[in-house]
Parts: sequence; C-alpha cells; structure tokens
Amino acid sequence: MIQVRVKPGVEDKIRGFFPWVYRPEIIGYSKKPEKGDFVVVRDFSGKFLGYGYINPQANISIRILSFRREEPISKDLVRRRIEEAFEYRKRLYLDSNAYRLIHSEGDLLPGLVVDVYGPYVVVEFTTFGMSKLKDWIIPILIDLLKPKGIYQKVSEYVASVEELEKEEKLLYGEVPEEFIWEHDLKFYVNILGGQKTGFFLDQRGARKLIRSLVKPGDECLDLFCHSGGFALSMKKAGASYVMAVDISSQALNLGKKNAQLNGLSGIEWVEANVFDILKALIAKGKSFDVVVIDPPSFAKNRATVPNALSGYKELMLRGIQLTKPGGYLAVYSCSFHITREHLLQTLVSAGRDAKRQLRVIGESFQDLDHPWILQIPNTLYLKGIYVEVL
Ligand SMILES: C[S@@+](CC[C@H](N)C(=O)[O-])C[C@H]1O[C@@H](n2cnc3c(N)ncnc32)[C@H](O)[C@@H]1O
Repeated sequence: MIQVRVKPGVEDKIRGFFPWVYRPEIIGYSKKPEKGDFVVVRDFSGKFLGYGYINPQANISIRILSFRREEPISKDLVRRRIEEAFEYRKRLYLDSNAYRLIHSEGDLLPGLVVDVYGPYVVVEFTTFGMSKLKDWIIPILIDLLKPKGIYQKVSEYVASVEELEKEEKLLYGEVPEEFIWEHDLKFYVNILGGQKTGFFLDQRGARKLIRSLVKPGDECLDLFCHSGGFALSMKKAGASYVMAVDISSQALNLGKKNAQLNGLSGIEWVEANVFDILKALIAKGKSFDVVVIDPPSFAKNRATVPNALSGYKELMLRGIQLTKPGGYLAVYSCSFHITREHLLQTLVSAGRDAKRQLRVIGESFQDLDHPWILQIPNTLYLKGIYVEVL
C-alpha cells in the first residue's frame, strides 16, 4: 500500500482522531498515488497513524477510515461499520420510517451518506475515494435492508470539488414517488428530482419541538418551508393559519400535496424570495405568533461567512419585527461554518436593532440519526436557537 508522510505537528491532530489530512500537510508518498487509492498515513518519523483513501487533487486529500494498525480498510470493515450503524438506528426512537443510516464521518465512513425512506434507499457519495467502494457498499445494503430500490443522488457542489461523476441514477430495483411517515404526519418524498436526498431528515426533532411553541389559534410563518415540514407540524399543533414561503415551486407543490395527504387546510403556500417577502410583510404591518427561519446553507466555506452573517442579520431582524410580543422565533443554520455562537451573536445584534428583548427557551441540533464526532467539529452542522420575543 502507498505510504504517505505528514509534516511534523500534523500527527497530533490525527492521534486525536481527526481523520482529514489536507494537501499542504503531506510531505511525500512512497509512490505517486491515483485518486481513490488506499494509503497508510505515517508521521514525520515513519510511525503509523492510520489507513485512509486519497484524492491527491482535493484540498482534503486523505480521509482516514481506521486509526488501528490491525484494522486496514477492507470489505469486512465497511460491512461491520454499516451493520453497527444499522443496529444504532434500530435502537433509536425516531417515530418515523425514514432515517439516515450512514452519516459519513459520524458513522466512521467518510464520504458515504445513506438515507432510508421506508423500503427505498438513497445513497450519496461525497468523495471520490468512497465512490470507488460502491461495489462493496451496494451489495451490503441490499443484504442488510432488503430494499425495493436504491437510488444514487449527487450533490453538485461536492461533485465539482471531488471531480465525481454527476449522474444521478437507479442502482437497484425501482424507486417510485413514495410517502414516509414522521410522528403523526405523512410526507411525500421527491427522491428523484428533489433537494438533498429527498427530505430534510435532520430536522425531525426540531419539527417536533416547534409544536410545543404553537397554541391553538396561532398564526405562524414558515420561511424556507420546502415541502412544509414545519408548516404541517404547526397546523397539527392547532395553528389557525400558516404562511409557508419557499422560492422553489417544486418544493411548494410537494408541500401542497403533503397538506392534502394529511387532510390539513389553512396553509397559504407562497412562492417568493424570503428576503423580498419579509420586507413586504413588514410594510403591510403583519405579525405572527411563531416564526421559523430555516434557510439553506449560506456559507459553504469560511470565505463566505461574512456575507452569510449579513444575510442572517437581515432575516433575524425582520423575523423579530414580525413576531408578536410574547411570540416565538426559531432560527437554524445547516452550515458548519455558521456556528451556534454566530447565531447567538447575530440574534443579540438583531434584538438591539429591533429594540426587543430575547429570551432563549431552547436549542436543537441535527437529530439522533445524524451523530457527530466530538473530535471532528465539522460533523456538527445543524444548530437551532429558539427565542421568545418579548
Ligand atoms: C433547509 S431547506 C428547508 C427545510 C424545511 N424546513 C423542512 O423541514 O423540510 C431550505 C429551503 O429554502 C429554499 N430557499 C433557498 N433560497 C431561498 C430564498 N431566497 N427564498 C425562499 N426560499 C429559499 C429552498 O428551496 C429549500 O426548500
């Protein structure tokens, strides 16, 4: 196997179970590696650090799968990790037939995401190295889950970073449009044409939490609503009216179908840019009892953080202005780069501008089927803050 040496000092973070080696941290190779080759990572003096796979062109060049000398990368190791992940999910009380089975680094399989929607499975490879293990992974999933179909999704962003094939395709069986259940609601999941792998599974806990904030008769606002996860939950909790806003007509059509599927009326689906509609709602003097702001990732890397924060500031300021005294505002960030502290600081600043005191009543993170590794901060990506706007 190709041996890779890293610069002095880099071994500390790897011994602390950080599994990424950046390109500038590499001193040299025993042989020129090809994309996706397995490598042994060694410190400056040649001591063993881990087994991983490499993409010499990518900034994150090596992802380590095993820190144990006696545990090189093999089909058995991958099978064991998938089985362990499955056993963990079986123990969780998710109250749904849809869950994330493999959460990349969080399940010690960097570059692999597997979501399960009832009898259907969606696989996403986020690194070239992991995509090379497809012929190991798919038979393991078929054997373990006995699915009716497996579909491969591709995130354009990671496909361009890792130079992956961009084609989304059926890998096994068939994948029709299907609905899943979560708590007492049903949702259509658009696996083939939808965003992410079809549904925002990571917000399952938050969707449940939001119900505690809604009183019967409340008027609510779900910004960046996608297929209506929060809007339907608010309605189910007794809201008399929910305005649900998204820029994607496809997501809104799914939202409307979801409302029908659950026999819920009283949701107004609005196709608009949230930044525009917020100004219009304020100009009209509207206000709401509960406001949810769940935007897409505004910061894909560190360089875009300042812009993302000014976007958040605007959303929070307007969100606060639109919340009735004693009402609630929930704000989320699904980008690792926009941290919990960023959210809190920006809320403080927005509260000052709006001249409203904010009482924090809760926080949420990605749900339990999206575990994160303490030594890999990047694996905690989804944060939510819930405030009462006094
Ligand atoms: C993180 S998802 C929301 C997930 C949703 N809350 C759920 O539980 O399913 C973000 C959504 O924002 C929408 N979006 C992105 N930019 C937007 C904008 N400027 N205005 C309105 N919607 C936008 C996307 O279409 C996507 O549906």
